[in-house]
Amino acid sequence: MGKNIVIIGTHWGDEGKGKIVDLLTEHANAVVRFQGGHNAGHTLVVNGEKTILHLIPSGILRKNVECLIGNGVVLSVPDFFKEMQGLEAAGVEIRGRMMVSPGCPLILPHHISLDLMRENVRGNQKIGTTGRGIGPAYEDKVARRGLRVADLFNEKQFKISLEEIMDYHNFVLENYFHTNKVSLQETLDASLAFADELKPMVGDVVDRLAALRAAGANILFEGAQGSMLDIDQGTYPYVTSSNTTAGAISSGCGVGPMALDYILGITKAYTTRVGSGPFPTELFDSVGSHLASVGKEVGATTGRPRRCGWFDAHALKRVIQINSLSGLCITKLDVLDGLDKISICIGYENSESESATPIYEEMPGWKESTAGIRTLDGLPANARAYLDRIEAACDVSIDFVSTGPDREDTIVLKTLF
Ligand code: GDP
Ligand code: IMO
Ligand code: MG
Repeated sequence: MGKNIVIIGTHWGDEGKGKIVDLLTEHANAVVRFQGGHNAGHTLVVNGEKTILHLIPSGILRKNVECLIGNGVVLSVPDFFKEMQGLEAAGVEIRGRMMVSPGCPLILPHHISLDLMRENVRGNQKIGTTGRGIGPAYEDKVARRGLRVADLFNEKQFKISLEEIMDYHNFVLENYFHTNKVSLQETLDASLAFADELKPMVGDVVDRLAALRAAGANILFEGAQGSMLDIDQGTYPYVTSSNTTAGAISSGCGVGPMALDYILGITKAYTTRVGSGPFPTELFDSVGSHLASVGKEVGATTGRPRRCGWFDAHALKRVIQINSLSGLCITKLDVLDGLDKISICIGYENSESESATPIYEEMPGWKESTAGIRTLDGLPANARAYLDRIEAACDVSIDFVSTGPDREDTIVLKTLF
């Protein structure tokens, strides 16, 4: 019997999901994305060589792994091809093992315009989106007027529907935002340019996942963003426009909740956030800049600096609850090397109010390097004590620890497949 294993980010994204998915695909037959779009940036490092993926599932560097994109993912066809061509140029064979759901909503140029204009109007209340058109594409889906991958293959009807939708959005762009309209013809040409090439990769992802499961395959479900960016459970309105928590798997690729065998939460040994919104444990001092520079905390999609702060066990407890997390993977432990003291947020004062302030517990740091250490025994005693404290505070087991960006720089404490 194969296993269905889920990888979820626990905070505001960039926890190291891509690295762990890539590691686990050694024993997996398929990897599926079920939400989000190319707002994601997942970094894989294999033998020192770095690959950043946005839409393509993080199983792509293992030759025999199937990669699937479920209906919950919003798809920019040109960006999908750009990413695929980049990988192909580096010698990665993709097309024979890639399946895209016909139900994926399309991200079109007017979505990007609307995303940028909305941010503009919000001024200092801006969400700090990735500017990829993600929110407006999900809006069109929920409004039941969106175009989907399947629509690309009926050119005549596509043109009629596109004209209708663009009439509506162009009216808003022109009359509300006082900006330029998006050209219908250019949108049409750009949308249909890849249709023939895309067609052989389009297939019934729901069926394929069921068939793989029935055949005893191991499947990884690759979350994008993080639980606190979830549209319902996150720090609304400073969130993304999809459900990023484990429940999204059912709607986003058609695998019911009872078919999930293990849910792994990926958590940095500290916390980061890119974009605006609340971040109770954010550091504005030299420790914050230390984490940012040692952790190379720059967004993998937009290149923006990430805000850094202490580990937030209080928030994590709720995230464990809303995802039914089975275990944790603590990443970037090595970034804490050399700090005199390390704090963990174990609760908030005035947690109901806007001015919630973290309650910290302070622990001694360690001077030794943990970079690349691959056994628990190899870690300094204070690093082990820090991990033990996280486990106790959150009441969940740490099943993996990551000590470097490379696939192999990982302490594996539990065999998942
Ligand atoms: P994702 O979006 O969750 O896949 O994470 P990103 O790829 O956006 O950001 C994580 C960053 O941390 C990437 O640059 C990774 O190469 C890097 N990384 C992952 N794990 C570790 C680790 O254990 N130590 C260090 N130093 N870097 C890591
Ligand atoms: P991965 O998968 C970190 C953030 C944006 C912004 C908010 C809304 O790499 O962890 P959007 O463009 O989605 O409407 O932006 O969500 N955001 C991410 N932050 N990692 C991501 O993905 C993110 N995807 C979106 O910065 O605050
Ligand atoms: Mg990322």
